[in-house]
Amino acid sequence: MFGTLTTESKDDLMSRGYSRRHMLKAAMLVGSGATALAMNPEIARAAGAPARGLIRISLNECWTGPMAPGAQAAAAIIAECNRYSPHEERGKLINAISAMEKIPQDHIVPWPGSNEALARSVVAFCSPTKGLVTADPTYETPGTAAKYIGAPIKAVPLTPDYRHDVKAMLAANPKAGLYYVCSPNNPTGTLTPMADIEWLVNNKPKGAVVVVDEAYIHFTAAYPNNTATHLVRQGKDVVILRTFSKIFGMAGMRVGFAMGRPDLLVKLNMHDDGALNTDLPIPSIACATASLTQASLIAERRKQLNDVRGMTEDFLKKQNLRLILPTETNMLMVDWKTKTAHEMQTAFRAQNVEISRTFPAWPTVSRITIGSRSDMEGFFAAFKKVVSA
Ligand SMILES: Cc1ncc(COP(=O)(O)O)c(C=O)c1O
Repeated sequence: MFGTLTTESKDDLMSRGYSRRHMLKAAMLVGSGATALAMNPEIARAAGAPARGLIRISLNECWTGPMAPGAQAAAAIIAECNRYSPHEERGKLINAISAMEKIPQDHIVPWPGSNEALARSVVAFCSPTKGLVTADPTYETPGTAAKYIGAPIKAVPLTPDYRHDVKAMLAANPKAGLYYVCSPNNPTGTLTPMADIEWLVNNKPKGAVVVVDEAYIHFTAAYPNNTATHLVRQGKDVVILRTFSKIFGMAGMRVGFAMGRPDLLVKLNMHDDGALNTDLPIPSIACATASLTQASLIAERRKQLNDVRGMTEDFLKKQNLRLILPTETNMLMVDWKTKTAHEMQTAFRAQNVEISRTFPAWPTVSRITIGSRSDMEGFFAAFKKVVSA
């Protein structure tokens, strides 16, 4: 009845207050990648073939594809993909991450994208009696997963300068199982200062875990000096999630990874014996390994982003719209003031431009992904038609 759940995993869930009904839901969540994908607000809404020529600035994808060394490594390994593991590619990725982040190899687990690990961290650290504390607005996967398994949820508004309000997050549920910090935050693109993250880690209840989602960290000016990896090195109750879907331009290749103490990471995959994270496509892993260390290409992409984002900010400011700043990522929030985000999404769609969904906390604000220069020029042209319609 409980699908992939082992006896050990059932015992774990029952000891943490899961009923039979909640256990079944946990089994469904971790037993099928498709379920976790459906929890990804970005991917779920991307279903269906886009119209030809559509300007896609809704899902925070990179404006360009994998880096050349990554694409070359992926292409080169295809001929050997009759083997499950031609040259121990998974181990090579872990080695590369370990060297780069100065984290021991057994503190790193690759995943097919970070969303899967994020949904599972909710099953692992929350339960019907141990809640989730998240921000509002933020990336929704943890909240969706918590709702699904019946864990109590507190969604705490961001501070007026769009940081996670870590003191209010702890006060909202001082006995939670998981505190989710998305930094830089999706959808605002804003960073939560490391001192605030450290405060939360040092003051959270015993046994709780802080998940720091660093999906967009490479876009930020201070990278690599602003990551939470030192907390993992110090053995704290912290899991950091990273993805190759953003600056590395590999969203369709599905690679991400989690960093944390081995006893925490094992909890993310105990419910399916680690099947999913040992089953990653070899070309995707090879591409990730070859891309990870491309510091100058990362810096080049960051510069391209900053230029095009600056141009977009200037355009929108001239229209007398309120922007949520400073974003450090490939997304920008704009307050239309007199129109809802839903109305604007529909109006832009009529002009063949796809912008983000609505974030319920801020109904008149849309998130715009910063695409290529020509994507944004298309967006500006569409904007002029939308406002004059
Ligand atoms: C903050 C954040 N975390 C995680 C993800 C999931 O990314 P992926 O599963 O592609 O690694 C996304 C995707 O947009 C995101 O915005």
